[in-house]
Amino acid sequence: MEAKKIMLSGIQPSGDLHLGNYLGAIKGWVDRTEEYDNYYFMADLHTLTVRQDPEAFRKRALEQLALYIACGLDPEKNTLFYQSHVPAHAQLGWVLDCYTMFGELSRMTQFKDKSKKNADNINAGLFTYPALMAADILLYQADYVPVGEDQRQHVELTRDVANRFNGIFGETFKVPEAFVPKEGARIYGLSTPDSKMSKSIPEGCIFLMDDETTINKKVKKAVTDADTEKWVRYDPINKPGVSNMMNIIAALTGKSFEQIENDFEGMGYGKFKPAVAEVIIESLRPIREEATKLIVEEDYLRSVYRAGAEKASILAEKTLKDVYDKVGLTYK
Ligand code: TYM
Repeated sequence: MEAKKIMLSGIQPSGDLHLGNYLGAIKGWVDRTEEYDNYYFMADLHTLTVRQDPEAFRKRALEQLALYIACGLDPEKNTLFYQSHVPAHAQLGWVLDCYTMFGELSRMTQFKDKSKKNADNINAGLFTYPALMAADILLYQADYVPVGEDQRQHVELTRDVANRFNGIFGETFKVPEAFVPKEGARIYGLSTPDSKMSKSIPEGCIFLMDDETTINKKVKKAVTDADTEKWVRYDPINKPGVSNMMNIIAALTGKSFEQIENDFEGMGYGKFKPAVAEVIIESLRPIREEATKLIVEEDYLRSVYRAGAEKASILAEKTLKDVYDKVGLTYK
């Protein structure tokens, strides 16, 4: 039997998980559990690039693990771990820092955005962030990296770094591909349909742990469009607000835009919004309920991440040894 291909991805525990994370990344991971050999982690080292409250950070990382499982990632079928528990990430990260160019890192959109947002803390980690992300991916010889559209540029850089390294030292790293979903790749904020849904604009961001009342409130206040036509039609240019909500429904239910347009034919936004809220509430309810149960099972969660790190280390150390041998470092 042919070995399964490797899927790998991570999310920073920098804020509570939201619908953008779920539709852009996690849902795709869950849907493909059986098909691939899966590695998913809490990108806690990356989170240090922005100042954190240590206690809240630690708690959020564990909650993120509970939510991974609650979203449907079975720990028996997915290797779930903390990035910081596998030291090879930081070790390969340093080596790849030395094979990633200043010019390449300067062009990264996320670096430019975050530098603007954290003008008083543009630290070296924020700059070299993509080299660590390349290490995350290349350590596991990942075939596919399922991410939202905003991370595509980092995966492209990872490919460039892998090709560069392979070019110098011979075949060392698998050159990975980004796996970006058709719907859900870029979910916009409900209050800002021109910028992506993110925790930094909480009023337009649906968090996975939001309750029914909160979701209703946020959807009710969602920006709809200023054009004169007041019915539901998919048109991201002229109707970005409505199209974003249609995209959310499509990604959650698997319906096509045409089907959604038919469902709401002749109805105004007044009927559309409660229906959108309903779909979100019903989709997230089982996740929230399961996560609430799991969050208090700290011993169980610890056993999951420990087993995950142990399993992840086997693959990671194999690649690290190969890299150390090739560049002339002495593997322990
Ligand atoms: P992060 O933590 O910002 O986001 C996690 C995942 O959620 C997706 N995402 C979205 N997708 C659609 N619409 C949105 N509004 C939205 N917001 C977030 C992101 O595309 C991402 O897939 N650098 C990464 C974390 C990382 C990583 C890795 C990912 C570290 N190492 C190795 C893959 C492989 C990041 O900051 O994602």
